[in-house]
Amino acid sequence: MIVHRSIAAWSAAKRSLVGTSLGFVPTMGHLHAGHAALLARARQECGTTLLSIFVNPTQFDDPTDLERYPRTLEADLAIARSAGIDHVLLPTTAELYPDAYTYKVQESAVSTVLCGASRPGHFDGVLTVVMKLLQIAQIGVDPAQQRLYMGEKDHQQLTLVRGMVEAFFLPWTVIGCPTVRETDGLAMSSRNSRLTAEQRRLAPQLVRALRESPDAATARTTLEAAGFRIDYLEDRALGTSHAAASRRYIAAFLGETRLIDNVALD
Ligand code: PAF
Repeated sequence: MIVHRSIAAWSAAKRSLVGTSLGFVPTMGHLHAGHAALLARARQECGTTLLSIFVNPTQFDDPTDLERYPRTLEADLAIARSAGIDHVLLPTTAELYPDAYTYKVQESAVSTVLCGASRPGHFDGVLTVVMKLLQIAQIGVDPAQQRLYMGEKDHQQLTLVRGMVEAFFLPWTVIGCPTVRETDGLAMSSRNSRLTAEQRRLAPQLVRALRESPDAATARTTLEAAGFRIDYLEDRALGTSHAAASRRYIAAFLGETRLIDNVALD
């Protein structure tokens, strides 16, 4: 595994990769089993794999949240190594934002609801950094040979990235991978490590209520009674395609920790 601590180092290495297939997994680090599943799938389906680790400041609407985001580089590299990843890119903020974030990618429909409504500017930051990372990662022009792996846990993010790739004719295939869950159903997330023992015990009720309630209003009542503070809980079909299926989306707080999840509705 080669660790590139600058974009220039990766750019030099990628010259020899032209003609192979590339599987790319962008992350903000603090990797868990959900990320490991993305890495394993990329490994299985592509000739070469690239993981990026970058805590993107422009997608944090709350500076305290950015500060508290766990940085666990050595553990992350160990996970990448055991997943058989070929290349790891660790760009710096100065390198990725030479424009000091004066240029942005903005979407004006899907990004305004759910997490977009409660976290102003969040998806501008996500789309901008993913656009930059895709330009940097790119080794060729064939979408079948450049595959981007992202999790369905962040389904709104996945929908927006898919839309951006289509809107700007980016030569990438976006692969959405199923949410990886703990045995009690809680979706794997970097934020789970912030839960107290009592909050961790309550947390699986979130997905249970999404799955078992006949409607969003009932799920809300159940979760509020259990001690969750609901940010949003909505049934929606996201995206511009008429084929977009309905899902139930939630963001809810347990104490200071904000958890998100979603499930497909039949
Ligand atoms: O899902 C994440 O970890 C981040 O939003 C991403 C896609 C790596 C962009 O910073």
